[in-house]
Amino acid sequence: MNHIRKAVFPVAGLGSRFLPATKAQPKEMLPIVDKPLIQYAVEEAVAAGVTELIFITGRNKRAIEDHFDKAYELESELEAAGKKALLEVVRGVIPKHVSCIYIRQSAPLGLGHAVLCARPVVGDEPFAVLLADDFMDTAPGQKPVLAQMVDVYNYERCSVLAVQDVPREHTRQYGIVSVTPYREGLETVSGIVEKPQPDVAPSTLAVVGRYVLSGAIFDYLENLGTGAGGEIQLTDGIAAMMKDERVLAYHYAGQRYDCGSKLGYLKATAAIGLKHPETAEGFRVCLAGLLDGLGAP
Ligand code: UTP
Repeated sequence: MNHIRKAVFPVAGLGSRFLPATKAQPKEMLPIVDKPLIQYAVEEAVAAGVTELIFITGRNKRAIEDHFDKAYELESELEAAGKKALLEVVRGVIPKHVSCIYIRQSAPLGLGHAVLCARPVVGDEPFAVLLADDFMDTAPGQKPVLAQMVDVYNYERCSVLAVQDVPREHTRQYGIVSVTPYREGLETVSGIVEKPQPDVAPSTLAVVGRYVLSGAIFDYLENLGTGAGGEIQLTDGIAAMMKDERVLAYHYAGQRYDCGSKLGYLKATAAIGLKHPETAEGFRVCLAGLLDGLGAP
């Protein structure tokens, strides 16, 4: 049985690394080829069995709400023009059995604060958190990353954090865990610290943007003060919860692209552009030409 029905998408960050593109729209609406990042994350959640999507929005929330809403004018124009395939694309953005809930984060007070905003809707059940700017690509036939984590949750019944080994000089960009061995692909988290400097980081194992959390996290988040950067940190909430509950670190199968950074976004665009049926061939030729210094055809 799948115990994870609800997923939280914090989309209220400032996206300052991607200005000016994020001046009037959330970074989660940036497209990878033809789909916004947030839609990839929603599809990953739905593939993991989630049926309630909870978006924590901030300023510039309109684009996300509109994207997952019915587009009457567009749909009737596509229908009138007989563009059936495009009509299906537009109508298929959200499956009918899935519902969307929007909660406004009054100010960008941190990821922990954004997650806490979901409490009235999540209650005390376990739930997923997906940071859509961490774009997760999996090979054909491979389970999407959140579905892998939900499998772990359904068996272990405790919080699960997606982790990835990073170069030591990058530890200051992540929550970093210390761990003890548990079983293949899984370790028990014994400590977690937000954005440590490389020389004091307890390991190089970084938490990336996929979590399955026990509903108990809300109590811990509520009792936190502000942490690194003057924000309420999810990392600090997990650190407090860990004293009472087991938390596992999961080495996911798949490739992560940090689409909150320009280079990560370009890498993801290239990877998906080289796979997308409409662009793969032409893009491969174009890239080869660019790399040869011959210029794009
Ligand atoms: P980031 O650390 O990437 O921050 O947030 P950011 O503000 O979005 O981007 P930069 O660093 O300024 O470029 C991680 C995730 O948490 C969400 C963001 O939307 C992103 O998905 N977030 C962060 C919130 O929803 N609220 C917050 O107060 C902070």
